[in-house]
Amino acid sequence: MTARPDKAHPETLGFSTQAIHVGNAIDEGSGAIRTPIIMANSYALPYDPSTVDWSGTDIPLYTRNTGANQIALQHKIAALEGAEDAVVLATGVAALHGVFFTTLKSGDHAIISDTTYEATWRLFEEIFPEKYGIEGTFVDVTDLDAVRAALRPNTRLIHTETIANPTTLTADVAALAQIAHDNGTLLSVDSTFTPPPLYRPLEDGADFAVQSLTKYINGHGDAMGGSVAGSTELIQTIKSDAMVDVGGAISPFNAWLIQRGSVTLPLRLQRHQESAQKVARFLEGHPKVAYVYYPGLESHPQHELATRQFGGRGYGGVLCFAVEGDRDTQNRFVANLKVVTSAVSLGHDETLIMHVSNEGPRVVYYPEPFKDYGHLRLSVGLEDAEDLIADLGAALESA
Ligand SMILES: Cc1ncc(COP(=O)(O)O)c(C=O)c1O
Repeated sequence: MTARPDKAHPETLGFSTQAIHVGNAIDEGSGAIRTPIIMANSYALPYDPSTVDWSGTDIPLYTRNTGANQIALQHKIAALEGAEDAVVLATGVAALHGVFFTTLKSGDHAIISDTTYEATWRLFEEIFPEKYGIEGTFVDVTDLDAVRAALRPNTRLIHTETIANPTTLTADVAALAQIAHDNGTLLSVDSTFTPPPLYRPLEDGADFAVQSLTKYINGHGDAMGGSVAGSTELIQTIKSDAMVDVGGAISPFNAWLIQRGSVTLPLRLQRHQESAQKVARFLEGHPKVAYVYYPGLESHPQHELATRQFGGRGYGGVLCFAVEGDRDTQNRFVANLKVVTSAVSLGHDETLIMHVSNEGPRVVYYPEPFKDYGHLRLSVGLEDAEDLIADLGAALESA
């Protein structure tokens, strides 16, 4: 079996049409009009296998190299990100690791945004320097002079998130790409908070666009996956080294679930963003709320950059805030919520909240109000915005 051609021509079609049709085709075996789940870990070898590349990733051979559902999802992610190619892996962290593992070697240096998902921070704070002699400097990437000052002759990678988890501070991707490329360095962008069509980092010069597919692209809170999109050459290295030889392959079932979820991504994203804007405005106007960070609010430090960079298409669906009061007040507030669920993760259909206290080594990098109060990270879901606002309002009154 080879990668099947898509029935539509993605580059000529609108985003929503691509989200439905790319990676889906009539199944030759059954005639089904949806790509089936192929839960095989092996595929039939040709009569003479002497020319088969056992580490190859082009044709289905063994699911750690590639399988039918991975290929279908890779086509879709490449189309949605506007990339030459994409690789899908078991988790978002496997995707991030794939970028770091293939671009860096002992003696190299990387500039890492000082505010990122926890695992990125741990990789560069402990694991890479201690075990592999790779150094990372944590820099406030919203300060471009600080990024330039951190460059070294051996800097090989700059890594940032578009909208940072958890602070929502927003990076200027085009400016970072310019700095990176002027210095012979690659730029990797974790765009999990800003999936397409909201934003495509490759169009602004990023070399890698990383997604935790677990979040908005799947969107239903029931599967894990990660992707990296970029040039054929860079992505091929991740496929052969990080997927085949390190083994971060996604399961066919998860790839299928994510493919299915991604069909409604444009519609879902629109709703997430509209509701996040309403919720952010409500919280900002509430006397018991200490602060709100959401790039869609005029009060956000990078509101203008976010408006320009995301082309007015929105600001994502995650915001951070705190209730006036101590740690116990934040916990009481969360316990009083009846619609919003207290759980990690984001980009699900249901609204999720998590309280993170103002303790721990990473808090030094956060804006002042996060240091004073800790923060409540709210991933606004697809419920009626009025229900969310009523739930948050009632919990604020009783906190
Ligand atoms: C910005 C960002 N990147 C990467 C990840 C990791 O993704 P996964 O949990 O799929 O490994 C997360 C998870 O929350 C995230 O928020």
